[in-house]
Amino acid sequence: MKVLHIDASARQSRSHTRRLSALFIEELRRSCPDLSVIRRDLALSPPPFVSEKWIAAAFTNEELRTEEMRHTLRVSDELIDELLASDLYVFGLPMYNFSVPAAFKSYIDQIIRVGRTFSFQPEQPESYKGLIQRKTAVLIAARGDSGYGPDGPHWSKNHLEPYVSDVLRFVGVTSIKTVAVENDEQGGLSLQQSIAAAAGALRAIAANLSPALLRSA
Ligand SMILES: Cc1cc2nc3c(=O)[nH]c(=O)nc-3n(C[C@H](O)[C@H](O)[C@H](O)COP(=O)(O)O)c2cc1C
Repeated sequence: MKVLHIDASARQSRSHTRRLSALFIEELRRSCPDLSVIRRDLALSPPPFVSEKWIAAAFTNEELRTEEMRHTLRVSDELIDELLASDLYVFGLPMYNFSVPAAFKSYIDQIIRVGRTFSFQPEQPESYKGLIQRKTAVLIAARGDSGYGPDGPHWSKNHLEPYVSDVLRFVGVTSIKTVAVENDEQGGLSLQQSIAAAAGALRAIAANLSPALLRSA
């Protein structure tokens, strides 16, 4: 099984998403010793923003691209190759101002590519098709406040899990699990309980996930 492990927290220490994504990988290794992990730290190495050159290159047919266009798309191609080569995606996602960190938004902009991760017919508006099939994603979120879950008072302001899930579904990923830590700002018992619940949920996901993925490999 191949795993793409991405962290995006600007905090290298004290980060809940980093600690929990690492814990999840360790849990997976327990049941899958030959686990192969591709690692990306978007806080240390943020992908470039899309540019006018990038857009021109991405929307030029592959066989007509110049050497410069190919060079412009090099990072995007590398990130997409990693996605296609992996069975499971593990994304550590702190909430920054109700959504993902900017580095992760840059990552999204690099991996949504016509002809590589989605296709469409120009004359048919509803013809979008995701090209990434049979993958599973685990989103590990963290936030300072509480109540951002589906039943909470701040759910409508949560532009993280719903947004990332929409992006993943757009490229064809339909198996998406989400776990979140809340109350980082409050701290104390409420934070400890939230971390313990998230860790427990991740252990359960790892235990149920690996045999299924191994069978499909
Ligand atoms: C720039 C920034 C923006 C943040 N915005 C929010 C927010 O909109 N809502 C919230 O509940 N917490 C917010 N927080 C708190 C973080 O989501 C929280 O500290 C979380 O634990 C960060 O993830 P990490 O522990 O992996 O670093 C913000 C923190 C930072 C640094």
